[in-house]
Amino acid sequence: MSTTPTLDITKMKPNDPCWCGSGYKFKRCHKASTDRVIAGTISPMRPVPPEIERPHYAEHGGTDDRDEPMVKPPETLDRMRRTGRAAAAILREVGAAIEPGITTDELDALCHRLCIEAGGYPSPLNYGIDPPFPKSICTSVNEVICHGIPDSRVLRDGDIINLDVTLFREGVHGDTNATWAVGTADPESMRLIRTTRECTSLGIEAVKPGRPVSDIGRAIQDHAEAAGFSVVRAFVGHGVGTEFHTHPEILHYYHPRNDTVMEPGMTFTIEPMIAIGAWEQRMWNDGWTAATVDGKRTAQFEHTMVVTDDGVELLTLHEDGRWSGDGGSPEA
Ligand code: MF3
Ligand code: CO
Ligand code: CO
Repeated sequence: MSTTPTLDITKMKPNDPCWCGSGYKFKRCHKASTDRVIAGTISPMRPVPPEIERPHYAEHGGTDDRDEPMVKPPETLDRMRRTGRAAAAILREVGAAIEPGITTDELDALCHRLCIEAGGYPSPLNYGIDPPFPKSICTSVNEVICHGIPDSRVLRDGDIINLDVTLFREGVHGDTNATWAVGTADPESMRLIRTTRECTSLGIEAVKPGRPVSDIGRAIQDHAEAAGFSVVRAFVGHGVGTEFHTHPEILHYYHPRNDTVMEPGMTFTIEPMIAIGAWEQRMWNDGWTAATVDGKRTAQFEHTMVVTDDGVELLTLHEDGRWSGDGGSPEA
């Protein structure tokens, strides 16, 4: 896979377009802040043993078949329960390796190995086009909203990081993420993480058959904005099953036209990204990394779930019923 060319930032002029591809002038972007996340070097693609069952895009990249039915048969749900729980266990184990000094590439190596040891394929690997995602986990640090590519950047004490694990096994995807502080983060970052976890939880509580999915976005947006934060608009929750991203779309803010009616057996993710400052985002020129325009931090939590006859069943809970990440009860 490609590597990021080494940049001599000292040679950049204030009015040059920023190296990160945001479209802003250097002086308005990375020069404005010494602590914005800087891309490192991406290591070569890690191989997956031939005996592991692969999703259709594993060889040549590609996106999803959008025609997968939203309501899954019971037999698919059983597979999704097993895959979801295995994804959660991997997320927890990679999360336990977070510490100042480790690189996001080392976290990728760990996630990659754990997916294979679990008998599955790391869904992000070679997913998408122009270019396909080159790694097995998304690692999104500080102002990176989502889809951060693991690289040689070292985690620092006081950073926050989201790890997004998706496992493909038994022909279905289990998609889950959580946010942690690296060492000790500032109180506002911890409030952001806690509030984002609460937003995710309130979104999940809004899942009810017969109700429109816009109930979910409303619950999330109300709580985020009451806390003085904003909801990122550009990325949404999604149907998931044999395909990684399919119908329905789940907006994390209220929109009346996000009106799919929830039905028992429907599977999707809820994965709100909450920002301390502005919700607007720019993509780096790697084609994946999405960061806030103002450089302020964001957090995210994600679960895969199924609508039941009277509510919801989470498919990516840990066996003990807990979630990964910070911002929960002290022993979470
Ligand atoms: N897991 C992400 C999600 O929640 C998608 C990552 S796509 C990738 O939808 F290609 F970046 F891995
Ligand atoms: Co997702
Ligand atoms: Co995800």
